[in-house]
Amino acid sequence: MKKFYIETFGCQMNVHDSEKVVGTLLARGYEQVPAPEQADLVFYNTCSIRDKAEQKVFSRLQDFRKNSKGKTFAVLGCVAQQEGERIFERAPHVSLVCGSASYNQLPRLLVQIENGDKRVTGLSLDTEETFETPLTRRDNPHRAYITIIEGCDKSCSYCVVPFTRGPERSRTTGGILAESRQLAGAGYTEIQLLGQNVNSYRDPSDDQIDFARLLRKVAEVPGLKRVRFTTSHPRDFTRDIVDAIGENPVLCNHVHLPVQSGSTSVLASMQRLYTRGEYMERIEWMKNARRDIAISTDIIVGFPGETEQDFEQTLTLLDQVEYDSIFSFKYSPRPNTPALQYADQIPGEEKSRRLTILQEKQRSIQMRRNAAFIGRIEEVMVEGCNKATSQWIGRTSQNKTLNFTAPQRASESLIGQYLPVRVLRAGPNSLVGESFN
Ligand code: 5AD
Ligand code: SF4
Repeated sequence: MKKFYIETFGCQMNVHDSEKVVGTLLARGYEQVPAPEQADLVFYNTCSIRDKAEQKVFSRLQDFRKNSKGKTFAVLGCVAQQEGERIFERAPHVSLVCGSASYNQLPRLLVQIENGDKRVTGLSLDTEETFETPLTRRDNPHRAYITIIEGCDKSCSYCVVPFTRGPERSRTTGGILAESRQLAGAGYTEIQLLGQNVNSYRDPSDDQIDFARLLRKVAEVPGLKRVRFTTSHPRDFTRDIVDAIGENPVLCNHVHLPVQSGSTSVLASMQRLYTRGEYMERIEWMKNARRDIAISTDIIVGFPGETEQDFEQTLTLLDQVEYDSIFSFKYSPRPNTPALQYADQIPGEEKSRRLTILQEKQRSIQMRRNAAFIGRIEEVMVEGCNKATSQWIGRTSQNKTLNFTAPQRASESLIGQYLPVRVLRAGPNSLVGESFN
């Protein structure tokens, strides 16, 4: 039996792709091992969103440059797509390079590797297919990812994703519902719908079914307690989505709506296709919803041409929206993207300065927002246990981490259960509480 090791970098899409790749390998008789040293086949599922992420895979490969004997190395994902055959030059011990838009070719590529081929690639972006497989081997027994749409048809000027994941392809609603029912039947209570831009979902067999309708249908699957989705794009984010969340408690009251910048002129040069005002309109829909919807976002600082005034606009946006959490990044110039050629690139130190200011501001906003939860009772899904603090780790529908103590005996695992927890304390990034039943 051949042994494989896989390491995954990047977003949830990549994590889920790896679950599908693992399932495909297990079905071919391979065995998964926890360390690359024990493996015959070493897979890296890679991310190229920022330069730092891309460097990681080359440093991993470098570790094995001198002692790669008897091992086969495979590079999957976004770096594979972006660098293609150049990977063989940078790391000659690599034998397989396959981008995510070609994963349906993987079984064939594996046969070629088994037959001793030294260099095989799957790099076509020219696909109408999605990577669906009944063989997916999910890591978590309670929360399952389901891909609903692959690829991206937007062309944000900083972003590699349209290039690495190809054009948008939606799965059929029938297929998504069948998978959801099967997962609910297997005991999963939470489903997370995935796509680079889930809001542009359209059922290929019935174009009346858009994302909001799909959400309502998935939420009706018996047995599911929570449905989440990521990522949204403000241009395609509709009021129907907010209405659906307002009406159905199975749909989690959390929306991740990346803004990237608070300045309309920076948004224009990022080719984001909305203004600050249009973005704020969507925020208002959520603030006026029937349920209290938590909002999170992504922000890039130091985009080429971002002036001090533009940056100030991002800071005022934080005050206006009061996000529950943000992911913030320094702009990283990426190959094949228009912004790489833009004038007025911002020096690294200035990007760092802006990032620190932004993060400090957001920290105090989160402190304040989380403090408002003290005394409330929140339902959590228990995700794990922190042995060091002997606290359970729970997550609220709003996607907040709520660490708590429970009177249960230590041997009794609460993982996967839903419990009411009283919030006692709050920090900027999590809440602390106690379960009382
Ligand atoms: N530089 C920095 N951050 C980026 N992101 C995407 N491309 C880049 C880049 N070139 C960020 C965006 C996106 C998140 C997933 O990563 O904020 O929403
Ligand atoms: Fe990284 Fe984007 Fe690829 Fe996800 S889609 S792995 S974030 S580059």
